[in-house]
Amino acid sequence: MGLFDRFDGLAKVHAAAKAGGQDPFAVRMDRVLSPTEAIIGNRPTILIGTHNYLGLTFDPACIKASQEAAEKFGTGTTGSRIANGTYSLHQDLERALADFFGRKHCMVFSTGYQANLGIISTVAGPQDHLLIDADSHASIYDGCKLGSATVVRFRHNDPDDLDRRLQKLAGQPGNRVIVAEGLYSMLGDTAPLKEIVAVKKKHGAYLVLDEAHSVGTMGAHGRGLAEAAGLEAEVDFVVGTFSKSFGAVGGFCVSDLEGFDLLRIAARPYMFTASLPPAVIASVTEAINQVRQRPELRQRLWANVDQVYDGLRRAGFTLGPEKAPVIAILLPDPDTATRFWNGLLANGVYCALVLPPATPNGLSICRLSICAAHQPEQLQRVLEIARRVAAEVGAFDDTPQRHAAAG
Ligand SMILES: Cc1ncc(COP(=O)(O)O)c(C=O)c1O
Repeated sequence: MGLFDRFDGLAKVHAAAKAGGQDPFAVRMDRVLSPTEAIIGNRPTILIGTHNYLGLTFDPACIKASQEAAEKFGTGTTGSRIANGTYSLHQDLERALADFFGRKHCMVFSTGYQANLGIISTVAGPQDHLLIDADSHASIYDGCKLGSATVVRFRHNDPDDLDRRLQKLAGQPGNRVIVAEGLYSMLGDTAPLKEIVAVKKKHGAYLVLDEAHSVGTMGAHGRGLAEAAGLEAEVDFVVGTFSKSFGAVGGFCVSDLEGFDLLRIAARPYMFTASLPPAVIASVTEAINQVRQRPELRQRLWANVDQVYDGLRRAGFTLGPEKAPVIAILLPDPDTATRFWNGLLANGVYCALVLPPATPNGLSICRLSICAAHQPEQLQRVLEIARRVAAEVGAFDDTPQRHAAAG
C-alpha cells in the first residue's frame, strides 16, 4: 500500500471539483487591485469570498504603519515569543487588544488557528471535559486533539443538547469548558449565546467563544457577538483572528481570568513557533484604531449584506438561515455547486466553494463574504451574474436538505 493511498477518497472529491474547469482549491490571484478586486487568469474579478469584512487590507494607515515597522524593526523576529520574538510592538498590540475588549489579559498568537490550538489544548487538562459545538472550526477540533481533556460534542447551536450532555457528567471530577463560535463561517448563523450562557452558569462551566468572524462585524463597537448580545462578562475567553476584519494574519485570546499569563509558558502553539513579524503587528495595531474610529465601516458592511442577501433571496436562491456577512448559497449537490462556482469565476466573480466532507450535513455551498468596501454597483453585478449562471447550471433545482439547512 502506498503512503498516500488512504487519501483516495479525498483525491476523488478533488478530481471531481477540478473537472468543472478551474481547481477551486488552487485559484491564483495574479494581482490584487483592492479589497474587492483582483486579476485572476488575466480577468478583472470581483472578490466576494475573502473574509476581508472591513476592507482594511489596503487601508493607507495600516500600510504605512506596516512599512515603518519593517524599516525600524526588520522583516521578521526569527524567534518565538518566549525567546527573542517579543518586541515592544507585540506587547503594545496585546495592550491595545485588551483595551479594545475591556479585558485584563491578552495573548497574541501567530495565526487564529494557533490561538485555538493553544487555548483549547491548555485551558482543559486530563481531568476536564471540553464541550464543543459539532460544527466547530477545524482549529477547535485540532485544539482538542492536541490537549488531554475528554471531548464531548453537542448538536450545533443546541443549548438543550449541551445541557443534557453536561447533566450526564454530573458527579465526575474536573472542570467543564464549553467552546462555541460567535458567527459560524459555513452557514453564517450565530450562536444562541444567551441560552448557552444560561447552561454554562447552571453547570458552573467556563466558556471559550471564537469570535473569528464576528469581531469587527458585530456589536456596537465591533467587539463581536458577545458585545451584541450584552454578554461579554459571561465569556471567559474570547479567541479571534487578525486574518478577517483586521486584514492581516495572526490570532489572539483575551480574558479576565487570574493566572491567564501562565499560558505563555504552557501553550505549545504559542511557545514553539516564531512570533508575528513587525509589519503585521503594526498593521493590526493600526487596524484596531480603524475599527474603533470608523463605525461607518460596519454600517457599510451591513448595508452591503442587506443588498446581497435580499437580492439573492428575491432571485430564488436558498441561503443560510441568518442575514450575516457570511452568506451561504446552498446548492443541490457538489456537481451543481462546482459548475455554479466555475460559472461565476468565468464571469469575473470569485467566491469560495465549500464541499462535503468539509461542510455540515453534507451541504454543497458557494460562500460569499461581504466587504464594507464593496460598491453597490459591484454587488448589483454579482447578483446579475449569479442569477444568470444559476439558471444555466440548474442551481435553483430543489432539495429538501437545502431547505432544512436554511431554517
Ligand atoms: C471560526 C474560525 N476560527 C479560527 C480560524 C483560524 O483563523 P486563521 O485562518 O486566521 O488562522 C478560522 C479561519 O477561517 C475560523 O473560521
